Amino acid sequence: MVNEAIKTDNLQIPDYVKNTKFKKWFTKMVDLCEPDNVYWCDGSEEEWKRLCEQMVDSGTFVRLNPEKRPNSYLACSDPSDVARVEDRTFICSIRKQDAGPTNNWIDPKEMRAKLNTLFKGCMHGRTMYVVPFSMGPLGSKIAQIGIEISDSPYVAVNMKIMTRMGRKVWDVLGDEEFVPCMHTVGMPLALGQADIPWPCNPTEKYIVHFPEDREIWSYGSGYGGNALLGKKCFALRIASTMARDEGWLAEHMLILGVTDPNGKKTYVAAAFPSACGKTNFAMLIPPKEMEGYTISTIGDDIAWIKPGEDGKLYAINPEAGYFGVAPGTSYKSNPNAMESIKANTIFTNVGLTPDGDVWWEDMTDELPEELIDWQGQKWTPQIAKETGRKAAHPNARFTAPAAQCPSIDPEWENPQGVAISAFIFGGRRASNVPLVYQAVNWNYGVYLAATIGSEMTAAAFGKIGEVRRDPFAMLPFCGYHMGDYFNHWLQVGRSLPNPPRVFGVNWFRKDANGKFMWPGFGENMRVLKWIVERARGKASSVESPIGWMPRYEDIDWTGLDFSREQFQELMTVDREAWKQEILSHEELFERLYDRIPKEFVLMRELLLSSLWRSPEKWELAPER
Ligand code: GTP
Ligand code: SPV
Ligand code: MN
Repeated sequence: MVNEAIKTDNLQIPDYVKNTKFKKWFTKMVDLCEPDNVYWCDGSEEEWKRLCEQMVDSGTFVRLNPEKRPNSYLACSDPSDVARVEDRTFICSIRKQDAGPTNNWIDPKEMRAKLNTLFKGCMHGRTMYVVPFSMGPLGSKIAQIGIEISDSPYVAVNMKIMTRMGRKVWDVLGDEEFVPCMHTVGMPLALGQADIPWPCNPTEKYIVHFPEDREIWSYGSGYGGNALLGKKCFALRIASTMARDEGWLAEHMLILGVTDPNGKKTYVAAAFPSACGKTNFAMLIPPKEMEGYTISTIGDDIAWIKPGEDGKLYAINPEAGYFGVAPGTSYKSNPNAMESIKANTIFTNVGLTPDGDVWWEDMTDELPEELIDWQGQKWTPQIAKETGRKAAHPNARFTAPAAQCPSIDPEWENPQGVAISAFIFGGRRASNVPLVYQAVNWNYGVYLAATIGSEMTAAAFGKIGEVRRDPFAMLPFCGYHMGDYFNHWLQVGRSLPNPPRVFGVNWFRKDANGKFMWPGFGENMRVLKWIVERARGKASSVESPIGWMPRYEDIDWTGLDFSREQFQELMTVDREAWKQEILSHEELFERLYDRIPKEFVLMRELLLSSLWRSPEKWELAPER
């Protein structure tokens, strides 16, 4: 479509919009961005369909075969715009030390000046979409409202799935506070210039947060967490600063429920870095031999957690959909995700099969004979073999409504949240880190979470495979000083009479041949069962220098052929390697020097000294 500069006079604010702050902001933003048109999203199904069909006409979307994948679409992005851009993400607090050394910081005055230049006229030739949304069930006490202004219809239809979006938000908002979320793809159209399927700015990107003003500005990207501003920008970076101020937690965590054969239900929350297994764990289906166990899903990516009056921690999922990693998702690895994406789903950067359906690496055992890959090129298994080209980008995603997940928990929209009994922290570690271990207490648990390392994945630009410290899986998402964040966690624990138990896991350890030692996915239920029983004070374990660990006989092996020797190998911790691991925490300590909790300094000493007396390799105690 060509920009013909037919300006419609619809810049008028609808009557139902009563918010004074919004009106002022909106008028200012129209003056700044100079859109051709304004569209007010109502959040209806009819609107979603209409906007999607418009994007089919404009070439952004391909309509998938309705017989294979009803009401679903495929978008393929510009190859320069496929993941979060952490080095272009900024926390512009008034004082630099409040952003801390793990965040990029620029003086807010300087940044505002820069943004004003970038955003000037940025929506020429485009429609400005006004997207009102609620993070958390609409109208509930813990929900927060944001308004995203964006020139991307792709953002509007994704926000409809990922949040509670639409007309009703205005009524709930009234004249109260909201978080302004300003977004542009950063590609204005000159008169007569044709648009392209995935407009973005290939060279300039800014993902900016003003924590004190609780404001988000995003420039130049249309992808994922860079553009769907309710998710990482709001529900984590801005919400974490709200949580610090108000005594709660905004975390990069899935929430799931475990029902045991007696019908007793336990909820746990788990933090793994991006593309390290949250969605898979949240939707886990137990092995059929573990009869009587079921898993239910509250959320797969973000948890807002508040202390209740009864001294327990209550968690909600502020999102309404899944923005999940497609590659690797299959009926074998995650049947619940496959069921969730059967219809009403947006796919981004996956392959398109000749029959109008989608495909990605490891979706099926049998490879399609041919398809069009995410970059629009012909793909065959032969071409893939010869060139290594992928059908889907490794960070290809699906956007699907949470309510479509067969394992969705009946409490998933309960505004009170669910009581959390255990926290699990994990990373992607090919070596050193055992399958599972339990922190001896809350403080040690916070230390464990703070020092988690993980290999980098395709979810963000960076050196894939390199191990980095990713405290609480929040390194790219904490909106303030990481040292203050650790202290906040310690403080939350101090206020709880019986805080949740804390565990470390690693599904990704590899053997000498580079193969995963642990089958993972549904089999993770065996580890989860031990965790839940530990949290209830029921399962046995042995003491080790890194915490409590299960013996072979403490794990339920029904239906899995996994030998004592294999388990030993998976659980072995090498003294020298672990010493190096602890010494490598120095990097974090040094960076956060002036705000590192004193507990951490003592804990590190204690860990090193307990290694001193430990054997070279810890063998788990034999059966007693
Ligand atoms: P984000 O959406 O980026 O936050 O990712 P996530 O943490 O939800 O990760 P997800 O569950 O989508 O998994 C990412 C990748 O890890 C996929 O390729 C999965 O197949 C793989 N994966 C997940 N669980 C396991 C597991 O237990 N074992 C192994 N080996 N791989 C897993
Ligand atoms: C992540 O990277 O942790 C995601 C995807 O969940 S995104 O929404 O792009 O941040
Ligand atoms: Mn995530």
